[in-house]
Amino acid sequence: MKKIQFFDTTLRDGEQTIGVNFSIQQKVAIAKQLEKWGVDVIEAGFPIASPQDFEAVAAVSKAVDHTMITGLARCKNADIDSCTKATKDAAIKQIHVFIATSPIHRESKLHMTKEQVIESIRAHVSYAKQFFDIVQFSPEDATRTELDFLAEACQTAIDAGATVINIADTVGYTNPIEYGHLFQYLQQHIQQFDDIIFSSHCHNDLGMATANTLAAIENGATRVEGTINGIGEHAGNVALEQIAANFYVRKDYYQCTDNINMKETKQTSEMVSNFAQMQVANNQPVTGVNCFSIESGIHQDGYLKNPQTYEILTPETVGMKATALPLGKLSGSHAIMVKLNEMGYDVNREEMRTIFPIFKRIADQTKLVSEDDLHRMMTAIAKDGAC
Ligand code: KIV
Ligand code: ZN
Repeated sequence: MKKIQFFDTTLRDGEQTIGVNFSIQQKVAIAKQLEKWGVDVIEAGFPIASPQDFEAVAAVSKAVDHTMITGLARCKNADIDSCTKATKDAAIKQIHVFIATSPIHRESKLHMTKEQVIESIRAHVSYAKQFFDIVQFSPEDATRTELDFLAEACQTAIDAGATVINIADTVGYTNPIEYGHLFQYLQQHIQQFDDIIFSSHCHNDLGMATANTLAAIENGATRVEGTINGIGEHAGNVALEQIAANFYVRKDYYQCTDNINMKETKQTSEMVSNFAQMQVANNQPVTGVNCFSIESGIHQDGYLKNPQTYEILTPETVGMKATALPLGKLSGSHAIMVKLNEMGYDVNREEMRTIFPIFKRIADQTKLVSEDDLHRMMTAIAKDGAC
């Protein structure tokens, strides 16, 4: 079993979501909840970005008990100094230093040559190493970087003291096969690959973030970066609860262990959703309400015979309420009978022959049939003397 670390950046990359601006108190509350959920690292913010971001990183560093805290820094001494000060009270800490490596970023944004980028990595990772035992380096837009230059950038960071390398798919550009090959390439071209923590950082612009993250894990990554509910820049970051659920449900396949306390998943997701004022979609994997409701007759019948026929993750596992079997026009006679029995109506299969067509007529007129509708139906049937 390989141990996978969870690095949560809800408070930094997640806050880059348009319209999301957590207060310091909200950040502290989220950080404490993330600690309960069991993440290994919390990226509390980008201290140089604003006085409030600095305060938030400092407040989270004080409030959190045993989880590693990090702040983000560009390859600039002032950013690194700000991060050093903001995280000074953290019990365990690291710094996260980044610079873009792709040709489009080098030429159009940074106006730097390859040599200048390499020199900046060397200078700033070694500067950061004076203040932090653990330095994480991220080549921004790594997935659009020439492979040989990417390996050179990572090797430079390692030689300067970085012990974590985070491969950023900044614009959600890659796919699982390509991202997997990228990690294999680094494995072959970086001398100390096995002594370094390689991390994935996937954005979801093309809907590939979860698949890409899992491909990284299959190809040597031992840390995953993402956010709760997948909030973040553009289409968001990978949703960490989806990665945790994949490891949990498919232990047989991924053979991974982690520190995640699955039962805290719903609570964590709800808190982030409330503070970000972003509703979790009904059909959101893992925490959406529809994940644990079954409407079609065939599925309801199978579920009532053995829940595992249609349920690979139980609601209790992620801290949610029992599976709902909402009744509608697709429901079968078995599910209606079970529901009526639960409501105190002693009806049997024979009587369901009369009741079921009446139920179907009601269901055709409405989206979902409520308990009140069922009571009214049974009262009318009793009046007619049908049962
Ligand atoms: O997406 C990205 O490139 C980032 C870096 C700062 C790691 O968030
Ligand atoms: Zn990012």
